[in-house]
Amino acid sequence: MKTTGNELTGATDTDGNHSTEQQPGFEQPPSSRWHDRLKGLGNIPPVFRMVWKSAPSVVVSSALCRLVASLVPLGILAVTKYVIDSINHFARHESALPRMFWWVVALEFALATMAMISGRLIDFFDRVLSEKFTRYISIRIMEHASKLDLTSYEDPQFHDKLERARVQGTDRIGMLQSMGRFVQEIITTASLAASIFLFSPWILIALVVCVVPGFLAETHYAFMGYSLNFQQTPARRKMEYFRVLGGSKESAKELKLFGLGSFLVGRYRTLSDKMQAQTVGLATRKLFVVLPLAVLGGIGYYGTYAFAIHQTIIGVLTLGSLMFLAGAIAGASANIQAVFTTFSGIADQALFLTDLLEFFAVQPKVFSKPNAIPAPRPIRAGFEFKNVCFSYPGSSRVLLDNVNFRLDPSERLALVGKNGQGKTTLVKLLTRLYDVSSGQILLDGNDIRDYNLDDLWKEIGVIFQDFMRYEMTTSENIAIGRIDQLNNSFRIRSAAMKSQAEEVIKKLPHRYDQLLGSHFKGGMDLSGGEWQRLALARAYLRDAQLLILDEPTASLDARSEHEVFKRFAELTEGKMSLLISHRLSTVRMADRILVLENGRIAEQGHHDQLIKTGGSYAEMFELQAASYR
Ligand SMILES: Nc1ncnc2c1ncn2[C@@H]1O[C@H](COP(=O)(O)OP(=O)(O)OP(=O)(O)O)[C@@H](O)[C@H]1O
Ligand SMILES: [Mg+2]
Repeated sequence: MKTTGNELTGATDTDGNHSTEQQPGFEQPPSSRWHDRLKGLGNIPPVFRMVWKSAPSVVVSSALCRLVASLVPLGILAVTKYVIDSINHFARHESALPRMFWWVVALEFALATMAMISGRLIDFFDRVLSEKFTRYISIRIMEHASKLDLTSYEDPQFHDKLERARVQGTDRIGMLQSMGRFVQEIITTASLAASIFLFSPWILIALVVCVVPGFLAETHYAFMGYSLNFQQTPARRKMEYFRVLGGSKESAKELKLFGLGSFLVGRYRTLSDKMQAQTVGLATRKLFVVLPLAVLGGIGYYGTYAFAIHQTIIGVLTLGSLMFLAGAIAGASANIQAVFTTFSGIADQALFLTDLLEFFAVQPKVFSKPNAIPAPRPIRAGFEFKNVCFSYPGSSRVLLDNVNFRLDPSERLALVGKNGQGKTTLVKLLTRLYDVSSGQILLDGNDIRDYNLDDLWKEIGVIFQDFMRYEMTTSENIAIGRIDQLNNSFRIRSAAMKSQAEEVIKKLPHRYDQLLGSHFKGGMDLSGGEWQRLALARAYLRDAQLLILDEPTASLDARSEHEVFKRFAELTEGKMSLLISHRLSTVRMADRILVLENGRIAEQGHHDQLIKTGGSYAEMFELQAASYR
C-alpha cells in the first residue's frame, strides 16, 4: 500500500499553464503519514463543542436513541436463540413449551418495534441537528469573517481557506452522524463480540484479523482523498470564477462582443478535465486495493460461520446457539467493518475541519487596544502623517516612503497622483483598514492606534472608488452609511438631496422603497453615475467629521460632476475633507492639494501656487486642459 506523495505530485499543477502564479507560498498539502492523519482527530473535540452549543437537547435525545438502537441486535439474537432452542426441545421431547415462551416471543416483537422507532427518531434528530448545526456554523462564519482585517480579504490563500471553511461548515454534517453511528456501532460490536467470545475466542480473533487490512486501506484512501481535495481548492476557485464569469450580468456585454464564450468554456473544461482525471484516478486505485481486502473480510465471515456449523453437527452447539452465533458473527463482522469505515470516515472528515478551525483561529491584527480612548469630538488638531512608510504584506515594494503631511480640522484637502501611486492605500491607512509599516498617523496628537476603532470609524465617512451597489432598496442603499438611521426617512431624504440622488430617486416607480439592482425580481438597475450619487448620499448621511471621497465622480458626466463638486465644496466648507480625483479641474476647489509621486508627497499647495511652481501638477493640469481645447 505504498501509494504516498508521488502519485499525487502531478496534482499540484491543478490549473494547467497558469499554475505557477498560484503556487508560490501556497500551503503544502498535509503529508500522508499516519501521525498526521490521527492529528485530524484532535479537531473532533472543538467541533463537538460547537455541535453541542448548536443544539444540546437534540444531541442528548439522539444519543439516547442510539444507545437503545445499539443494544437491540444482541437482545433480538438472544431471544431468537431462546425461541429456537425451546421449539427444538419441544419437538424432540414433546415436552411442554416453557411458561414464559409467548412472553419472550412478545419481547422479540417489542424489541423489533423499539429498533424501528429508535431508527426513525435517529433520522429525525439527525435532520434537526443538521439544520441547527449548519445554521449555527454559517452564522459563526459570517460573524467571524466580519471581524477580520481587510488584509485577509485581499489574500488569495485566505479565500481558499474561507471557501473550504464554508463548504466544511455545511458539509461536515455527515461527520456528526458518523460520530453518533460510530458510538452505536462500537456498542453493538462490543456486545456481539463479547457474546461470540463466550462461545469461542478464536472465532473473534479470526474475524478481527480478516477485517483490519480493509480498514487500513479505507483510511489510507480517505486521507489521499483529503489531500487531493486540498490541492484542488485553487483550481476549483478558478473554475467557479469562470463559471460565474460566463453567466454574469457584469461580464455579459464584453463576453458577447469579444466572443469570449467558448474561450471561457475551454478554460473551464481544461481545469475540470484535469480535476476529474485526478479524482477518478484515485477512486480507481482505491477500488483495486480495497476490493480484494473486502473479499478477505468475506472469507473471515464465511470461514467462522462454517466452523460454527461444524460445531453444531458434532453436537457441541445447540441449534439455537448456531442461530445466535451466525447472527452474531454476521452482525459483528458487519459492525467491525462498519466501525472501521466509520472511523476512517470520521478521521477523513475531521481533517477537513482543520480549515474550519484554522479559519476561526485567524484573528484580526487591526483592533482596539484594551484601554483604547474614544475618538475626539470635535477634532481640534486634525490628522498628521509622520514619516509614514507602507508596503503591502508579502510585497517588497515600498509604496509610501516617509510621507509627511497634515490635515487640519477645517481644511479641504485634495490628493492627486498617477494610477497606482498609492492614493487609495493612503486612505486605507488613514481609516485604519491597514496599519502603517512604520511611522505614525496622529489624530489630535495621539496615534490613531490608541483610539477605539469603531469610534474612529464613526468619525470618518469614506466612499471608495469601488463602492458597493447593494441589491436592496433605495433607502437601504443610503442608510448603509449609518444603518441605525434606516427608519429615519427625513435624514435619508436630506442626504439624498445633498448628493443630488433625489433627482434619480424621483424617477423610480417606488422611489425610496424601490428595489435596486438586477439580481432579484422587481429590482431596477441604475447607471454608474446614478449609483454614485446614492453612494455619495451614504457619506452625507454619516455625519462624520472627516469626509473622504476617493474618485467618487468617475462615472458622472461633466455637468453632474461640476454640480456634485460645487455642492461638496459648499457642504464641506469649514469642515475636514479629503478628495481624490484625476480631474484636476475639480481638484482646484480644494484648499490645498497634495501630489503623491514615487511614494512621497512631491508637491503641495493651492492650485494657483502649484501652477506657478511649474512642477508635475502644472504639467498634468496643462495636459488635461489642452485636451479640452
Ligand atoms: N491588497 C493589495 N496587496 C498588494 N498590493 C496592492 C494591494 N492593493 C493595491 N496594491 C498595489 O498598490 C499600488 C497602489 O495602489 P492604490 O490603489 O493605492 O493606487 P491609487 O493611487 O489609488 O491608484 P488609482 O489612481 O488607479 O486609483 C498598486 O500598484 C497596487 O497594485
Ligand atoms: Mg485609487
